Amino acid sequence: MCGIVGFVGRRDAAPILLEGLSKLEYRGYDSAGLAVRDSTGNFEVVKAKGKLKELFDKTDSGKALHGTMGIGHTRWATHGEPSETNAHPHISGMDVKDSDIIGVHNGIIENYMEMKTKLLRKGYKFYSDTDTEVLVKLVDYYYKKYKCPPCEAIAKTMVRVKGSYALAVMFKDHPDEIWAARKDSPMIVGISDNETFIASDVPAILKYTRNVYYVDNMEIACLKEGSAEFFTIDSEPIEKELVEITWDTEAAEKGGYEYFMMKEIHEQPRAILDTLNSVIKDDGDSKKIDFSGIGIPDEDIKNISQIYIAACGSAWHAGMAAQYVIEDLARVPVRVELASEFRYRKPILDKNGLVIIISQSGETADSIAALREAKEKGVKTLAIVNVVGSTIAREADYVLYTLAGPEIAVATTKAYSTQLIAGYLLAIQFAYVRGMIDDEKYAYYISELYALPDKIEKIFETKDKLQWFAAKFVNVHDVFFIGRNLDYAVSLEGSLKMKEISYAHSEAYAAGELKHGTISMIEGGTLVISVLTQPELFDKTISNMSECKTRGAYLAAITAYGHYDIEDTASFVSYVPTADPHFMGSLSVIPLQLLGYYLSLARGLDADKPRNLAKSVTVE
Ligand code: G6P
Repeated sequence: MCGIVGFVGRRDAAPILLEGLSKLEYRGYDSAGLAVRDSTGNFEVVKAKGKLKELFDKTDSGKALHGTMGIGHTRWATHGEPSETNAHPHISGMDVKDSDIIGVHNGIIENYMEMKTKLLRKGYKFYSDTDTEVLVKLVDYYYKKYKCPPCEAIAKTMVRVKGSYALAVMFKDHPDEIWAARKDSPMIVGISDNETFIASDVPAILKYTRNVYYVDNMEIACLKEGSAEFFTIDSEPIEKELVEITWDTEAAEKGGYEYFMMKEIHEQPRAILDTLNSVIKDDGDSKKIDFSGIGIPDEDIKNISQIYIAACGSAWHAGMAAQYVIEDLARVPVRVELASEFRYRKPILDKNGLVIIISQSGETADSIAALREAKEKGVKTLAIVNVVGSTIAREADYVLYTLAGPEIAVATTKAYSTQLIAGYLLAIQFAYVRGMIDDEKYAYYISELYALPDKIEKIFETKDKLQWFAAKFVNVHDVFFIGRNLDYAVSLEGSLKMKEISYAHSEAYAAGELKHGTISMIEGGTLVISVLTQPELFDKTISNMSECKTRGAYLAAITAYGHYDIEDTASFVSYVPTADPHFMGSLSVIPLQLLGYYLSLARGLDADKPRNLAKSVTVE
């Protein structure tokens, strides 16, 4: 998500910055920009919406800009639509000439509105919708207020802002220095003879050097020609070890993972946390969901008579899960439909209804058509979308963004996980506003959501066991996934993951439905994977598993720690931590994603680019 490159040396910086940014294209972006400091000490800034080619063209491949120091950025919109104004670098003033500080940033500043209000009071003016502009202006504010060195101004800013960031800034009156800081967003510093680089990822600078320093959390760096110094937040110097990169560029882009899909599976805890933090505000005493950014008034939430969810693929599966959770918590009837069906069945929609469209890309043709159908019928629409400024985000009445960041692997993992979170957030807030849950329950559900990222990290510790299991079933022909209620919703996603990337035939069934036909397919050795996370339905699903076992099926199960009696029935069990039952899908889906991935790997397939599939389906 977003990419940073910085350079200080003796050659012109712009071509190096552009080359570095092109190596970060894989991270996804919608606009780009760079700033170079020329020999007179002035900053020159060029930005462009769209592909990097625009920036190459605008700068004659960098040749039009002269200066041996600069910073560049590819932006993937989170605050404010993709546009030239919102693209980085951002400046401390309203005009480049009047600006003393210029910077680029990756990550999300969670309290940027609070900081913006403070700066507005101090007389600062803003030209963009970004949290980054706030960050740069905050550095400027402290720099001038305390007349302190850059390191201190950055440290004071770090103390005030909440969220994640990799920040690179240039100060007009500190020629030949680039300053950087980091919290929860990766950043490296590369060194070669008389040249120093900064980047959010190794591929950006591999062409120039293999010697890097990894900047750690809450550290500040000062880059000069051929050297770098590191400091704590208290301006104490830090000794760092220079590391030699031995990987090639392609491996570096994947952060050491064999496939993007695995990288994205591991990004899920962070993506969930970012999505939660984007709408949950901490007022000191308690955490509250704040939908003011989405724009849906409480009065409208109270009046919703019926919810219709329309989506495709995994987004539809996320909708299935949302249906169970919203109905149970908020007691509003929910109907979930495939967007391709919804659009043509002449839906009868209640005028007080709410149509929710879920889409990672925001560009899926059927989902767009479903949205337009709802709007034509005069019903309010809410989009759960990952890509800022996409068609669905622009056309819906309200937008709840997931903050999964760009997804490269065709088979979705982290976007799906954040869609689940969006569904929970709606369920909890709708329940609260409609008086279905009290303050205590509200606080409990929110704390359960915040516990999910660490629990997912724990599941990653069971990866080896899942890989072993996938290898054992490398030649499997038919797989059935079964579960009830929320476990059924997650089974649908587990089955889709498996068929998408391993090409094994798999189906998901509501466990109680097996007897009505599908059980005739079960024979000696058929693999049946059951999901059992709903305490009330545990025994019911065990009965359905037993029915399969008597017909020769091999039983595998995903359940929570503590349910060890499952081993009387299932031959293979993958345990996940316990959470409130409404949110267990966020945990049980992880072993299912890993199983699909490892089966694909065991079969020697390309997990990132499965045959016949597209990441964004923009045709019917
Ligand atoms: C394609 C992708 C799926 C995705 C579906 C819906 O089929 O391969 O992973 O779930 O489209 O895409 P959307 O962008 O609308 O979520």
